[in-house]
Amino acid sequence: MRRNLVAGNWKMNGSLSANAALLAELKAGLGEVGCDVAVCVPSPYFAQCQSTIAGTALALGAQDVSVHVSGAYTGEVAASMLRDFDCKYVIVGHSERRAYHGETSELVAQKTLSALKSGLTPIVCVGETLAQREAGETDAVVGEQLEAVLELLDVSAIKKIVIAYEPVWAIGTGKTATPQMAQDVHAALRGKVALRDAESAAVVKILYGGSMKPDNAVELLAMPDIDGGLIGGAALKAADFLAIVAAA
Ligand code: 13P
Repeated sequence: MRRNLVAGNWKMNGSLSANAALLAELKAGLGEVGCDVAVCVPSPYFAQCQSTIAGTALALGAQDVSVHVSGAYTGEVAASMLRDFDCKYVIVGHSERRAYHGETSELVAQKTLSALKSGLTPIVCVGETLAQREAGETDAVVGEQLEAVLELLDVSAIKKIVIAYEPVWAIGTGKTATPQMAQDVHAALRGKVALRDAESAAVVKILYGGSMKPDNAVELLAMPDIDGGLIGGAALKAADFLAIVAAA
C-alpha cells in the first residue's frame, strides 16, 4: 500500500512575513494527517521554515539541486547544503526549469543521482506540452524523460524516488487533466518502471501536479495510480492546501 504524499511547490513566492503566516495556519490546521506532507520552499527560507516546522508533520523540501558536490559553481546549491537544513525532498526537472533554464533529461537524471547520494528524496517531474499531447506524443515524451533517470539508477534506488506527472499545459492555467487522463499517464509511467523492476513499480509514488485544487483533488486522488499531488498555486493558500491534504 502506497502512502500518499502532498507536496507544496511554493516556486519563487514568499517572504519572511508571508511564510510565517502561511506556516502558522498550516500548523494550526494540520491535525492528524494520514499522508506525508511537505513544503518545497525557496532556498533563502530554509532556516526559517526548518525551525518553524520542526516537530510537526510537515517536511521540508527544495526546488532544485546542483549536480556538483561543492566548489566554483556560482549560484548553485549542493545537496549537502539542503541536508544541513533537514530537507527531506528536492524537486528535480520541474518543467519551468526545463523550459527556462534549458535543463535536459540527462541533467535531470544527474540531479536525481546527486540528491539520492545525499539521502534526499528526489521528486522527479515529467510532463508533456499541449502541442505534444495534441500530437499524440504524451507517453513517448514522459517515457523518455523517465527513462533518462531510470537508466542511471541501480534497481535498489528506484523505489527511493518520487515521480511527479505534471502536464505542462495544466500548470498554473486552471486546466486540469481529467482523472482518467492523469490515471492513463500514471499507469504508463508505472508500467515503464515495471519493465526495470516490478517490485519498485508497486511501491514507487507517482504524484499528479497541474492545477490541483480542493475541488478536483478527491477525484484525482481516487485514481489507483495517483499517490498524491505536487501543488503550486493552491499551496500558497493554507485553506486550499489543507483541504488537499485532507483529501489525500
Ligand atoms: P499549479 O498547481 O499552480 O498548477 O502548479 C503545479 C506545479 O507546477 C507544481 O510543481
